[in-house]
This record gives sequence, C-alpha cells and structure tokens, in this order.
Amino acid sequence: MNSHHDNIRAVVWRNDKLYLLDQRLLPHQQKFLAFETAAAVADAIRNMVVRGAPAIGVTAAYGVVLAARAAYVSAPADWRRNVEKDLVLLAAARPTAVNLCWALERMQRVMGDVQGDPESILLQEAVHIHEEDIQANHRMGELGAALIERPCAVLTHCNTGSLATGGYGTALGVIRSGYANGRIHQVFADETRPWLQGARLTAWELVQDHIPVTLLADGAAAWLMSQGKIDWVIVGADRIAANGDAANKIGTYSAAVAARHHGVRFMVVAPTSTIDLSTHDGKAIPIEQRPESEVLSLAGQPIAAEGAAAWNPSFDVTPAGLIDAIVTEKGVVLKPDTAGVAALFDAG
Ligand code: MRU
Repeated sequence: MNSHHDNIRAVVWRNDKLYLLDQRLLPHQQKFLAFETAAAVADAIRNMVVRGAPAIGVTAAYGVVLAARAAYVSAPADWRRNVEKDLVLLAAARPTAVNLCWALERMQRVMGDVQGDPESILLQEAVHIHEEDIQANHRMGELGAALIERPCAVLTHCNTGSLATGGYGTALGVIRSGYANGRIHQVFADETRPWLQGARLTAWELVQDHIPVTLLADGAAAWLMSQGKIDWVIVGADRIAANGDAANKIGTYSAAVAARHHGVRFMVVAPTSTIDLSTHDGKAIPIEQRPESEVLSLAGQPIAAEGAAAWNPSFDVTPAGLIDAIVTEKGVVLKPDTAGVAALFDAG
C-alpha cells in the first residue's frame, strides 16, 4: 500500500497485461498504455514512455513475461529459443541504464529452471523485482535522509521518483523521507534540459505528494549554490562503475563540479542493481546519444535556428572523487572508491 508522500505508480501489471503511465504526456495528461508484446515494451523503453533506470529494469522484467507467454503459446517445446530474440530487443532498448540488463539476467536465471508453462513463475519473479525495488527505495530513503545533519534545502536533477523506479524513488525517495522527518524543508529541482524530466515529472510528483518544489533552469544551479541556499545535491544514477564513478542524466556532472566548488555536499542514491562491477570506471560506461530533435525542438515546436546541429548525450559521468556519499539499500559508501563499493557486496 502506498504511504503518505508516495501515491504514484507508473508501472502496473493488471489482468495479464502490462500498463505504463505514458511519461511523454505528463504533466498535462495522465494516460496508461497497455502492452501485450515484448517488442512493444522495448519500443516503449526506447521512446521514453517509461524511463529512469530502475523503472526500465522492472518494465523489462514484465516484458520477459510477455515474451515467454507468446513463445510458449506458439511452440511449447521450444519456447526458450523463441524468447531469445525478444531478450535481445529488450536489452538493446537503452544502453546506459544497467538495471535493464540486470533485470533481464535475473529473469533468464529463472527461465533456466522452469518446467512446463513459464508464465506464472516468470511473473512471480518480475513482481519480486518490482517489490524489492520499492523496498530498496524506502531503505535508501531512511539511510540518505539520516546523512542530512540539519534542516536544509536540497537540489535535485532529472526525475528519480516513483515514475523512475518501481515506486517511491531513489534520490526523490531520500527527499520524500527527509521531508517527512523534517530534515528537508525546501526542494529545488533543475528543469533538466532537454527532456525536462525535472519540470515535467519531478515537479509533478512533488506537487501530487504535497512537497513544495521550486524549479530552476539547469544553468542557475551553480548560482543557487553560491548563495549558500542549499546543503546537499541529491541525484540518482543509471550506472555506477566499480570505482564509484556514476553515470546520470546530462547536467549531473556540472552540478557535482559546482557543488564541490561551493562546499555543497553531493549524494548519489541508487540500488545495488545500478552498480556494475564489470565496468571498471566511468570511461567504460556507454553513453546514450539521443536525437538532435530533442534539443532543437520543444514540445514538437522547432526552437533553434534552422540549420543548427545539436549534440545530445543523454548522460554524463560524475567521477567518484566529486561524490560525498553513494547510498544503496545495502548501506552507504562515504567518499566512494573501488574498495568501498566492493564492500557493499561482500556484506551479502
Ligand atoms: O533518460 P532518463 O529519463 O531515463 O534518465 C533518468 C535518469 O538519469 C535518472 O536520474 C536515473 O535513471 C536515476 S532514476 C532512479
């Protein structure tokens, strides 16, 4: 059941179908789309109907259920082989968020043991992935909020809330918890060009959950810090490398550089499903390039001089040295490095 300050779910399995809240239409329209094939789910991930690393992972897990159902109905003896092409489609939908491959690998492990019709056992695993993500977010909310020593204002970037996860949120989960326990009294949110996740999604979530939010242009963040108005920048991650370097929405790195310059602390909040120990450092993280049109247009209207080109990397990498704390459901890593990140997994 949803708690206070947590009333939104963007990924829903109901009546044998997957429903996704179409995030392209928010905040003006709240419309769920129904999905019955893995190929359509892969398209929805690529086209940002659903976005945010953990939400992409949860969605892909349900996509595997749909893939297995179709494969079993068409060839019960050969369903595993027929699921493969859908797994490839899902894995290729977006490259940076490692939660996608993490969820697919977890579903594949269950596929290996199934006897007979795979649908119910795979659905059970997808639901576990979904519920575990929400639990992890609540735990990270507590751990992250506990790092905030005095009531303060915070800045966040992109959308890391219920829309970006199974529910509650990573960085926004910390903000929800911190607001509930009085450590956070004001939230500043970067609008997050070019896709405006901050203006359209984070502001919408916080307004829905009665948490006051003030938007600012991304370029205003350093100036806000220079005025001593915030104590912490709190963000999510799409992939954290073994050494603690963290890929997140483009603009996160600028916020981290500005935070260090102004003595503002910088917190990255992500479940361990976002940590990729096989990626040695940030240089090895694949960075998704998205269409130029996302920069050259706004809400379908051209805004740039005709003939201008655009550079549109969807993510950047914040080096571990600029991060004060990585908060996961397994614990907090202060001043992250390879040993600190590895210790999270040693603990079991
Ligand atoms: O391109 P998006 O909207 O999928 O990017 C999302 C982000 O960068 C989030 O900050 C990240 O996934 C962490 S969400 C819990």
